[in-house]
Amino acid sequence: MTNKSIYIRTFGCQMNVRDSEVICGLLVKEGYKIIDEPNKADIILFNTCSVRQHAEDKVWSELGKFKKGQSPSGTVPSIIGMVGCMAQNYKEKIFERAPNVNFAVGPSDIQRIPEIIKRVISHKSQVTSQDLLEFKIWETDGGIRPEEIYHTGFYEDKKHAYIVVSEGCSNFCSYCVVPYVRGELRNRNYKEILKEIEEAVDKGITKITLLGQNVNAYQYNDINFAKLIEFVNLVKGLEEFSFITSHPKDTSIDLFKTMANLEKLKKYLHLPVQSGSDRILELMNRGYTRKFYFDLVDNYRKIVKSATLTTDIIVGFPTETETDFLQTHNLVKDIEFDAAYIFKYSPRPHTEAEKLADDVQRKEKEKRHKTILDAQKDISNEKKCLKK
Ligand code: 5AD
Ligand code: SF4
Repeated sequence: MTNKSIYIRTFGCQMNVRDSEVICGLLVKEGYKIIDEPNKADIILFNTCSVRQHAEDKVWSELGKFKKGQSPSGTVPSIIGMVGCMAQNYKEKIFERAPNVNFAVGPSDIQRIPEIIKRVISHKSQVTSQDLLEFKIWETDGGIRPEEIYHTGFYEDKKHAYIVVSEGCSNFCSYCVVPYVRGELRNRNYKEILKEIEEAVDKGITKITLLGQNVNAYQYNDINFAKLIEFVNLVKGLEEFSFITSHPKDTSIDLFKTMANLEKLKKYLHLPVQSGSDRILELMNRGYTRKFYFDLVDNYRKIVKSATLTTDIIVGFPTETETDFLQTHNLVKDIEFDAAYIFKYSPRPHTEAEKLADDVQRKEKEKRHKTILDAQKDISNEKKCLKK
């Protein structure tokens, strides 16, 4: 047991939020205290995101505020660990760029964090800070995480919990780094998922969100995603649940019929379209067409009553012309999403799209970004007025 304190800063998506909870749960079990002041922490963890360049830039800039071996105030000697996708993405290069980092651990290896911290602490009392940099630990072996790490019962929110359904992604969308930093899709045993939900409910949780990079591709033996959500709906004491993120190619009328029948399921679908141009969708390796997406949305709205729909869009993908962009713009105006998250394309390491020239100029990306943002703002405002 230890009396050391830990500060953890989380960047990126809900998957990272849950991973940070899992890490905190493991560390609390070992006696660490989780605190929210980096200035007072013995150990500082950055749980990082690589999905877009912007997310990474933020981490580098935050890390820069920490001097080697010191907290930002300079009062407490700190150990700094970089965990998550950037650790996997940059590997040893992290230590060149941020010499204040003592160790790095990829997303598939988070269960080793308590042991790694212990090693760094014992090492630190004997050797110079330069030697500490030997702790260059990163790993993604593509294996599923040990089940027990999901059962520490640590939740930031006492009423709502995120529950991981699957890890990684095998879709290899051409712009996306996720399959390279989080590995290919691995589905958890549905019995373990249900057990985790029951444990959460026993702790007072009433709402949950099922998480997966491609949540509706879930398949464990003969249990598919529709079957899984039927089981979740039966958990006693659970009041409401939802799921993110769905891929259009794995979304079906059968899933909508199941959704419509489950009284505890929030009638909400986050269905990233990414682009309204068939040419760009193909270059993105998304596996569906514009028409397929429109038909899907029609069916969703017909079958699942009073349902909400949100999306992700990337503007400025390599070779995106004004005509391609207008198709995305029209799609946004036609479909009338409840919300849309718009991103400017940034090349990501390892990906297929990285091999293409990033040829849409920054100014043009900004213009397209603003155009979609404004269109969506108008739609969202109109929807708000209609609700009143
Ligand atoms: N550039 C810009 N946006 C990206 N996304 C993923 N990769 C990139 C990239 N290279 C966006 C997608 C995805 C969301 C989580 O992030 O829209 O759905
Ligand atoms: Fe990335 Fe595509 Fe997988 Fe989503 S579905 S995580 S965008 S590869």
